[in-house]
Amino acid sequence: MINEGNDRRGFSGYGHSTAHPSLALIKYWGKADSVENLPATPSLAVTLDGLKTETSVWISLNTGSGNTADAVFIEGVLQEKKRFEPFFREFRRLLEKKKPDFSDFTIKAESSSNFPASAGLASSSSGFAALACACSGAAGVELSRDVLSALARIGSASAARSLYGGFTSLAEGKRHAKQLFNENWWPEFRIIILELEKKPKEISSRKAMEQTRITSPYYNSWVKDSVVLMNEAETALGNRNLEILGPIIRKSYLRMFATMFAADPPVIYWKPISLGVIRLCEEMRAEGISVWETMDAGPQVKLFCTENETGKILSRLEAVFPDIRARVCTPGSAPV
Ligand code: PMV
Repeated sequence: MINEGNDRRGFSGYGHSTAHPSLALIKYWGKADSVENLPATPSLAVTLDGLKTETSVWISLNTGSGNTADAVFIEGVLQEKKRFEPFFREFRRLLEKKKPDFSDFTIKAESSSNFPASAGLASSSSGFAALACACSGAAGVELSRDVLSALARIGSASAARSLYGGFTSLAEGKRHAKQLFNENWWPEFRIIILELEKKPKEISSRKAMEQTRITSPYYNSWVKDSVVLMNEAETALGNRNLEILGPIIRKSYLRMFATMFAADPPVIYWKPISLGVIRLCEEMRAEGISVWETMDAGPQVKLFCTENETGKILSRLEAVFPDIRARVCTPGSAPV
């Protein structure tokens, strides 16, 4: 445990939260402002039941001695401070307004997930969402969901969406996400998460986005086009129509990657097995199965379908790729 020795002396609060990752149907890729971490494109996502990140936070008032450096441990490994500094700065700024007497303190966080981190499975979305909730719990302050969403966004823009259950959106240039439909909107909707590789990605999404923004000749078109895809997708989701939504989901991730492939140097997260799964989805669609794939900053592939086709899809996957792990998720709830 971490609240021992010096840390116990000024101990003043503990918070805990469990959050689910946010998987985008319409992708955010590119920043309108890299300091504020504001997205350049709108995104539409589903919060995933079944995958989760649990985070504990201890806040201790500084007493003039002992270690006062904030520390975050993921799966027991101390993380680079820099990654969390802007988030903790914003958290302190929010607290200054709510609890002016509570200013000199150290934050320690421990986090673990039931899926691999930094491998393109949206661990930063559930990670920063859980951290935002656990921090406010540890400080004993009530922050609205929108404020928590904006705080989580500082760490990772997709995390802004993880603050809400069901289907969510984060508009371009906006500070917090919003819920479009709750987790009961489309009871038959299923998401199959395929774990093709456990290794952490070679290039962070933050770095890859900037590389794409600065060097890809297609970047401006991608940003413009994503607004069109977003509007179409919102309507299809409102009608719970996978036949219309599926092809839009597909355009969004493929156009995002086309923009990345054209960067200099190119950003290539795909692995041969990723393409293998994409081709298998094409085959299944040709046979009349409504299955639509997407990918993020990593080699994993995620599939969207409805409950009645899940069994067929899983057996096809098992027959062609017996070694890959598949998890079937439903739309999940907000953090607790
Ligand atoms: O929020 P970040 O920095 O982890 O970036 C997420 C980027 C994508 O997963 C590729 C797309 C998205 O909207 O989640």
